[in-house]
This record gives sequence, structure tokens and C-alpha cells, in this order.
Amino acid sequence: MKVGIDMGTVQGGAPAKLDIEELLATRLLVQGNSGSGKSHLLRRLLEQSAQWVQQVIIDPEGDFVTLSDRFGHVVVDGQRTEAELVGIATRIRQHRVSCVLSLEGLEADEQMRAAGIFLNAMFDADRDYWYPVLVVVDEAQLFAPSVSGEVSEEARKLSLGAMTNLMCRGRKRGLAGVIATQRLAKLAKNVAAEASN
Ligand SMILES: Nc1ncnc2c1ncn2[C@@H]1O[C@H](COP(=O)(O)OP(=O)(O)OP(=O)(O)O)[C@@H](O)[C@H]1O
Ligand SMILES: [Mg+2]
Repeated sequence: MKVGIDMGTVQGGAPAKLDIEELLATRLLVQGNSGSGKSHLLRRLLEQSAQWVQQVIIDPEGDFVTLSDRFGHVVVDGQRTEAELVGIATRIRQHRVSCVLSLEGLEADEQMRAAGIFLNAMFDADRDYWYPVLVVVDEAQLFAPSVSGEVSEEARKLSLGAMTNLMCRGRKRGLAGVIATQRLAKLAKNVAAEASN
């Protein structure tokens, strides 16, 4: 069965459908200025595909935690130990549960660390659990910055490595990366390069 995600209508009124199989087989990059509707678009994509596919959202601003009310996503607080984050991410893959990693209110360093650990643990899941999952990262430049900023080198390496794994080597493992950013120039080149949509 071919499933199209209903994204709205195009000019003229015809439905705008996004092929879910194609989305899962490739990677999507959304770029637009602040306020142009990136988070809104991601939200629409998630709501419309929630019944078809497992979803994991890295949420730096708390835009997506309310998905739990209507769609039952598990909300995971990013302020946890490494062992806890690895344990949760591993179980999320085993049980194919949709979840939101909530990083709102954490320092930039902490956000990178938590996202990096979580994504790496999903990437390292046992081969038996390589089920398809949409991995949505809003404000992707926070996790894969093109230049080193004020954050610690350790957090930057961890997070950048995890984002590179997601976008360059995730497909085989079922990880379908969907990332959004304000500026391509702020995003590490190799993270953006593999996004064909
Ligand atoms: N297709 C749409 N229809 C109606 N309202 C929209 C649509 N897209 C975006 N909006 C509204 O526009 C505002 C800005 O959208 P959004 O927060 O998604 O922008 P953004 O690109 O994520 O910005 P930022 O980079 O600052 O996070 C929001 O209030 C949102 O509800
Ligand atoms: Mg946004």
C-alpha cells in the first residue's frame, strides 16, 4: 500500500502528498528564515504520519512535547545521566515507541550532550531492531554547527558525530533523518550534504 502524508493543498486545491516510503528511504532538510514556518511544517509532517511510522524528535524548544497528548509520544527529559539516556534510547528502538527528547531549558552544552548520546544509542541499536523511524531534529545547527562556538569541544564532537551518523550512515539502520535549520551556512557541511530532499 502506498501512503501519502497529507501536507495540505497546492495552488489550485489539489492535495499536497509526501510519499512516506520515499521519505523513509532518503533524508530531508528544511531551510527557512526565522518565522518562515519550519517548526510548523515539521509538526504537520509528524501529525500526519504518526499513525504510519515510529517517530523520534529532538526538541530544543519544547515545540513538540504536546504530541504526547494526541499521539501518545513518550516525552523524555534530556536532563538525565548518560546511562539513563542510552537505556531509554535502546528501549525506544526495541519497542518502536515514538518519543520526544525534550531539551528545553538546558544549557547549549547539555543539549548537545543529551542529543548526541541519545542519537548514538539509537544508531548503535542491535541489528534486530533496525526498524524504520523518522528522526526529526529542529534547529539542527545547534547540534551540528559549522563552526566551533562557546560550547565545550567534547560536547560539540559528540553531537556532531551523532548528527553525521544520523544523516550519512543512518539509512541502513532504519534512521530517516529530517532536519530543519535557519541557515545552511550555520550547519556542518557533511550533515547537510546527504539530504536529497
Ligand atoms: N502553513 C502555515 N499556516 C498557518 N500558520 C503558519 C504556517 N506556517 C507557520 N505558521 C505560523 O507562523 C509562525 C512561525 O512559524 P514557525 O514557528 O514554524 O517558524 P520557524 O521557521 O520554525 O521559526 P524559527 O526559525 O524562529 O524557529 C507560527 O506562529 C506558526 O504557527
Ligand atoms: Mg522553529
